[in-house]
Amino acid sequence: MFDTPQYPRKTREFHNHHMDSTIWNRFAFRPDDVIVSTYAKSGTTWTQQIVGQILFQGDPDVRVADISPWLDLRLPTEEEKFALLDAQTHRRFIKTHLPLDAFVYRPEIKHIYIARDGRDIAWSMFNHASNFVPEFYDILNSVPGRVGPPLEHPEADVVAFFRRWLDQDGAPFWSLWENVRTWWEGRHLPNMLMLHFADMKRDLPGTIRKVAAFLEVELSDEAFERAVLHSSFDWMKANAEKAAPLGGTIFQGGAATFINKGSNGRWQELLTDADVAAYEARALAELGAECAGWLAGGGEIAPPQAAAA
Ligand code: A3P
Repeated sequence: MFDTPQYPRKTREFHNHHMDSTIWNRFAFRPDDVIVSTYAKSGTTWTQQIVGQILFQGDPDVRVADISPWLDLRLPTEEEKFALLDAQTHRRFIKTHLPLDAFVYRPEIKHIYIARDGRDIAWSMFNHASNFVPEFYDILNSVPGRVGPPLEHPEADVVAFFRRWLDQDGAPFWSLWENVRTWWEGRHLPNMLMLHFADMKRDLPGTIRKVAAFLEVELSDEAFERAVLHSSFDWMKANAEKAAPLGGTIFQGGAATFINKGSNGRWQELLTDADVAAYEARALAELGAECAGWLAGGGEIAPPQAAAA
């Protein structure tokens, strides 16, 4: 995937019921754009909120739901998304769920990748898909150009959902492994910041400082305190319509359904030892020990020389 001398190169397009990677081929990047990337259900919106709070100095009225689109989602139309972004005079921050080898990587642009344990993702994804309003399934599945099967309502049981998701490489969504693996390969690029949901929960103020430094934005002490408050789970849950995709209108129960629990490990009481062993064996086989360990719990990533040693 890596071009000479070192940059990731797009090697393929990526399509499914949600996504169309080709939009990035036509997108007019600006050098100060910020890309927020995850597999999905990994803290994307949380990170968009953090970035929005940093760029707007802790302004409580910033609505990332309105200003930070998921570009590769087939909705709304390309024209609408491009018009929104073209009109923005502030620093733009844009979300993607593409694997890095299907993304148009630009070395001058800053990328933030967020990971989360796949079992937590599956739990979050089950809540997400179970709560789409029926009209959203209709709208999504009738978008022209869809590739592959339509998205169907998930099974009623979260464990059954998890088992199919693991056995069928992310079904009914997409592969976790190729997403994590490709972005992990880019972890040492200077314009790449790798975050983990577990670390964000352990130290939100530290995460905000790290992201602000990465984006080269100075925050006053007051702005920093506001940014921490407005990125907390409780504040985001209470103001969920400002951050949730499409303002949360696509979820039964609205945006607060999307900002659901914000906790990890909810699978521990429900998965059997065999389920856990199957997940961990697959993660190891797909990602290798170092990346699988990071995906499970976050923590510092070894610098390049240590990784190579
Ligand atoms: P749960 O469904 O486990 O509660 P994404 O934005 O990638 O779809 O991720 C959604 C997940 O991030 C949801 O997890 C949501 O609750 C969680 N989340 C959003 N904001 C959060 C915050 N401020 N603190 C902790 N978790 C948050």
